[in-house]
Formats: sequence, C-alpha cells, structure tokens
Amino acid sequence: MHFFESLAMIPVSKLPDSGTTIFTVMSALAEKHQAINLSQGFPDFDGPEALRKRVSWHLDHGHNQYAPLAGVAELREQIAAKVEILYGARVDPATEVTVTPGATEALFCAISAVIHPGDEAIVFDPAYDTYDPCIRLNGGIVHHIPMVYPDFRIDWQRVADSINDRTRLIMLNSPHNPSGSLLSEEDIDALKELVAGRNMYLISDEVYEHIVFDGQAHQSLLRHPELTSRTFAVSSFGKTYHATGWRIGYCVAPARLMAEFLKIHQFINFSTNTPMQYALADFMRDSPEFPTQLGAFYQARRDLFCGLLEPSRFRFTPSSGSFFQLADYSTISNQPDTEFALHLTREHGVAVIPVSVFYREPPDQQVIRFCFAKGEDTLRQAAQRLIAL
Ligand SMILES: Cc1ncc(COP(=O)(O)O)c(C=O)c1O
Repeated sequence: MHFFESLAMIPVSKLPDSGTTIFTVMSALAEKHQAINLSQGFPDFDGPEALRKRVSWHLDHGHNQYAPLAGVAELREQIAAKVEILYGARVDPATEVTVTPGATEALFCAISAVIHPGDEAIVFDPAYDTYDPCIRLNGGIVHHIPMVYPDFRIDWQRVADSINDRTRLIMLNSPHNPSGSLLSEEDIDALKELVAGRNMYLISDEVYEHIVFDGQAHQSLLRHPELTSRTFAVSSFGKTYHATGWRIGYCVAPARLMAEFLKIHQFINFSTNTPMQYALADFMRDSPEFPTQLGAFYQARRDLFCGLLEPSRFRFTPSSGSFFQLADYSTISNQPDTEFALHLTREHGVAVIPVSVFYREPPDQQVIRFCFAKGEDTLRQAAQRLIAL
C-alpha cells in the first residue's frame, strides 16, 4: 500500500464546491489543443525593459532578504505619491500602504480583517472568483446581487433591500472583470448614500485602474473622502506593468483598518519579494507616465480586436475598461456558454472564458469573455478563426 493511502485521513473541506478555477482549466485546455489562448487574463508580452533591468540590478546588489512587513519604504512612498496625484488622496506611506504578493493576497487580508463568522457581505455577480470563497472561509455569508449583459449596472435599490444589521461589507470592482464596465459618478453617489451612518466596510478592487477607455475617468473610491474612511483599495502591479507572474500588488486603507490587515498579512506571507519592490520603486520614480499611457495602449488593442470581429456573427459593445471584451454568441450557437467555450477551444482553436462561471446563479445569457491583452498577430489569428464561425 502507498504510504499516504495508509493514513486514510480525509479533511472535511472548507470549500467543498470549489474545484480548479476555470482560468486554470481553460489555459490547460488551450495548451492541450494548441488553441490561441484568449481565456486567462494575462498579457502575452513582457513589461518595460527598464523595469526588468532594475529587478536584475537589485538581485545583484544585495536586495535578496526579507522586506519589511508592509513593504519597502521607497515603494510605499511612490504609491502614496501616485494616489495623491491621481486621486487627490493624502495617505501616510508608513501606516496606510501595504505591498502584497498580488492583489489576490490583499483581497484575502482585507476580507479577513473585517468579516467575522455570521457577518454578511454583498458581492455583485459576475464577480472575480476569489471574493466569495474568501468571505466564506472567514465564516461570512455572501449575498450575490446579479448584474446582467450588456450594461452590467448595479441595482442600488436591490442593494438597499438586502442590507441588514449583519451586513458588514460591500465588494466593488471597477473597471470590472469580466464585463469591462465602470462605476459611474451616480453609482458613487448611491454608494455614499447607502453606507452613510452604517457600520460597513468597502473593498474596492481596482486592479484595472489605469485601463479605462474613451476618455472616461476611473472612479477610484480613493477620490471620495466620504468613502475612504471605510475603504480598502486594492491594486495590482502585475496588471499595470504587464507582469502578472511577479505576484505583486498593494492595498491602501486608513491606518486603523490597515493595522488589522497587517496582522493577517504577517501570518500569510509576512512580506512581499524584495528585489521587485525596489525595482518598481525606481521605475515609478523614473517613469511616472507609464500607467497614464496604459489606457491608450489597451484601447488600441480593444479597437483592433473589435474591428477585426466586426464581420463576425458575435454581437458586442466595445469594452469601457480592463483588458476584456465580452461577446454574445447567440446567433452562432444555442449551447450553454461552458459548452460553447470548450467547443471553441477544441474545434476552432480559440480559448475563451464562459461568463456564467462568474455568477452564483447564471442568468439566461450566452456570453463569453475574450482577453485582448495579446500581441497583434495573436489577435488577428484569433479573429480569423472567429469570423469563420
Ligand atoms: C478583478 C481582479 N481582481 C484581482 C485580480 C488578481 O490580481 P493579482 O494578479 O495582482 O493577484 C485579478 C486578476 O485577474 C482580477 O481580474
């Protein structure tokens, strides 16, 4: 008998309904079928050379040991300077900024900092896949409020109706994955009205903060002093500098919230990798314009992809932000979206994400998500296959 089999201990799962995420499944399937991978949200190109060179430099100049718990001071100062310039928020880099191994860890720490067993949290579906399990792991109860294709607007009346004394948290995400929709000023006003006077926190997932199109403004919650006192704002260096594999992001929150966040962060990762923090601090100081050009950079890719898809039978409205484009395929097939996504990967060589996986209870819609953070040739080849459908 195999050694481990002899132990016969099976833990009671804390997440019995969680399997391998769809992103891993689709990327593996894309590889197996040699399909063009427009599924998982990562660029197929590298970040700026100057930034990569700074990482090598710091690797060779003694920055290889533990960083401080909240992150390298130089980087926290750059982050504080950035949020002041972009959003007018004056935050203390010593107590209100923490660098984390990806936005993913920041989301987990922020949720864990405020959710106690029996607390309720509001999540808008379609939702990024970490929110719900992180809340449940902390003993929280998740209220899923649906947003539907094509506008994905929040029904604020429904939010108001689902709030009770146990509601502790609202999760927000703008620019939104998977829909590319943006929070508007009216949304922010509705949010302000709703939370005023209540013991509720906000986690604002802003990993696509710089990827906003057509001259629209990103409504960072950090712009709004009435909201910042209860907000954890989460960002991703991976998304901003085309380096999702580096696993580095950050969180900005008022000191009294950050103190609780840090208690959790210290026992998960303690700190974030050191050489990349120094390199990012250098690059932010030397090339502050980089994030401000990201919107135009990705808008060109969105326009290229949407233009190429124009003659196809897919129906779509160009994305407003993020690097995702949704498309309705109901004139091509009546398969459910998970089946259609598998079919597209296996038979037509383009891997995509079915939007239903982002919902607790998927509405009746036939929509898939394309990631257009890919090289022009890749997008052209994919589009050629898609217009043949
Ligand atoms: C909405 C959203 N939040 C968080 C993340 C995770 O970001 P990171 O790679 O920095 O952990 C992603 C990545 O796809 C995302 O789309």
